[in-house]
Amino acid sequence: MKNKITVVGAGNVGATAAQLIAYKELGNVVLVDIIEGVPQGKGLDLLESGPVEQFSGKILGTNDYKDTANSDVVVITAGVPRKPGMSRDDLIGTNAKIVKSVVEQITKHSPDTILIVVSNPLDIMACLAKQVSGFPKNRVIGMAGVLDSTRFRAFIAEELNVSMEDTQAMVLGGHGDSMVPLPRYSTVSGICIEELIPKTRLDKLIERTRKGGGEIVALLKTGSAFYAPGASAVQMVESIIKDKKRILPCAAYLEGEYGIEGLFVGVPVKLGSNGIEEIIEIKLADEESNSLKASADAVKKTLSELKI
Ligand code: APR
Repeated sequence: MKNKITVVGAGNVGATAAQLIAYKELGNVVLVDIIEGVPQGKGLDLLESGPVEQFSGKILGTNDYKDTANSDVVVITAGVPRKPGMSRDDLIGTNAKIVKSVVEQITKHSPDTILIVVSNPLDIMACLAKQVSGFPKNRVIGMAGVLDSTRFRAFIAEELNVSMEDTQAMVLGGHGDSMVPLPRYSTVSGICIEELIPKTRLDKLIERTRKGGGEIVALLKTGSAFYAPGASAVQMVESIIKDKKRILPCAAYLEGEYGIEGLFVGVPVKLGSNGIEEIIEIKLADEESNSLKASADAVKKTLSELKI
């Protein structure tokens, strides 16, 4: 296969992403981790599922960044996950050191790659990845909006007892409790959900979406979500690798769009072979716009705590 996709971090999110990339035959997979044996073991195990799952393509587990050379896309999941009672922002100190060292190694061996950052706190780690790599803004993308939207979509579909595939949703803003689900831009087969779900129920779904990650952390107790985060990152990989030009909510570096400057914040973008090919500016009502600005302010505040 001609594409090469590296996943850094062979933990829950990374291994899930690697599995989906392999099963969807998006490219050869390199799985990297700092722990000896884990990426090799998981890589081999995944490879051995090939005859049953009927995929072709190579899978390499490694601790050596030389093996990642010339990757087309790199998904960064290295870092620690949340435990109950923690916010994503509580991970900043530990994960900043990890993400910095990962990005230094990756960019040395793949100077032209596209980075998809998954490690939390997401908007801050994406900003750090841009700073450390020196990459242009189209080649550093944060995975958050696809995840927040898929959670919202799942809750809408469950509420209405309709197919998930007909359910679309848009969630903008930072990847935290201040995120901005937009019911006006969320639909079931083109019908706005505001016409289908009474306001009191809709408010509950929005609140559940905002706290969706925390709900899973509270249940798991020893870590955070990984099926939906892994799948969301791979949807972004697929749009880039196949140049699908999908419009997906992603954390993008903004330079004045939506009145936000110098921050990574979730907005709708076009994802193709050049990474972020366009930032789509949708018209927001005053209340929506104010919520987005408040969310960006929360990201800015956390960013000010970043010390590297
Ligand atoms: N280089 C490579 N891998 C590293 C490094 C490093 N410097 N430091 C840690 N790792 C690896 C760990 O060894 C572990 O295998 O990152 C992996 C993280 O896996 P998990 O602990 O299972 O965490 P996971 O649930 O996958 O979450 C990873 O994604 O969604 C976010 O908040 C989450 O920041 C967290 C990240």
